[in-house]
Amino acid sequence: MHPVVNIAVRAARAAGNLILRYVDRVDTLEVTRKDRNDFVTEVDRRAEAEIVRILRRTYPDHAILAEESGADGRDDAPQWIIDPLDGTTNFVHGFPHFAVSLALRHRGRIEHAVVYDPLRNELFTASRGEGALLNERRIRVSGITRLADALLGTGFPFRAHRHLDAYLATFRALFPESSGVRRAGSAALDLAYVAAGRLDGFWEVGLSPWDVAAGALLVQEAGGIVSDFAGGDRYLRSGNVVAGTPKIHAEMLRRMRPHLTEALRG
Ligand code: IPD
Ligand code: CA
Ligand code: CA
Repeated sequence: MHPVVNIAVRAARAAGNLILRYVDRVDTLEVTRKDRNDFVTEVDRRAEAEIVRILRRTYPDHAILAEESGADGRDDAPQWIIDPLDGTTNFVHGFPHFAVSLALRHRGRIEHAVVYDPLRNELFTASRGEGALLNERRIRVSGITRLADALLGTGFPFRAHRHLDAYLATFRALFPESSGVRRAGSAALDLAYVAAGRLDGFWEVGLSPWDVAAGALLVQEAGGIVSDFAGGDRYLRSGNVVAGTPKIHAEMLRRMRPHLTEALRG
């Protein structure tokens, strides 16, 4: 395993252990509302602080872009993109599906990725050009080629309701043509599941870089494709993400295209 990934795994596991300590007592946690339908707990904050502490110990000069504490560090430094708890709504409801997501971006490219599911003890890792692993075993996207056979993942735009109509148009274009759609509530795990062949495709609008950065590299290194809704590479900026096996990704884009509003064409 690449030394950078080793450190990232240490940070992700430490955050995961902290999250697990609270899993059975979420009712004692103070839940704060950041925005409409956007909650944060002290677990998100403490897990993030723990990740940053571990990364900074080895890489004091690296920059940080973290969901709860924002951006810090020089523009030209390698940057850690951190979601300490992806799936907070699941977590606060005791719905057992969430993850820690860490990616290292350098010169505009994601170089390393870690997504850790502490409940299942599943560790997804990838380094550019070196493939994707689940608990140190190589993973590949599925061999599914027809949308009719594909199980898709998605996320609903529960915060950005302005995207709801446009999103529903894409849902209408894909759902009846697929073999099923799942909304599990953690975009980082959705992408990791595409990488592992558990889902054949995924799409969501309005995501943040920390939801997507690690999962996107996992999909690419597992032989899949990730793009924005126009088929381009602006997905970290626009937050509109389509991922899948090469055939399913192409088929999803083709079916969605006629229904895209101006805001979603990128
Ligand atoms: C959210 C999850 C969810 C997705 C949202 C994300 P959070 O992240 O990934 O699946 O639908 O768009 O914001 O807030 O739980 O870290
Ligand atoms: Ca997230
Ligand atoms: Ca989060």
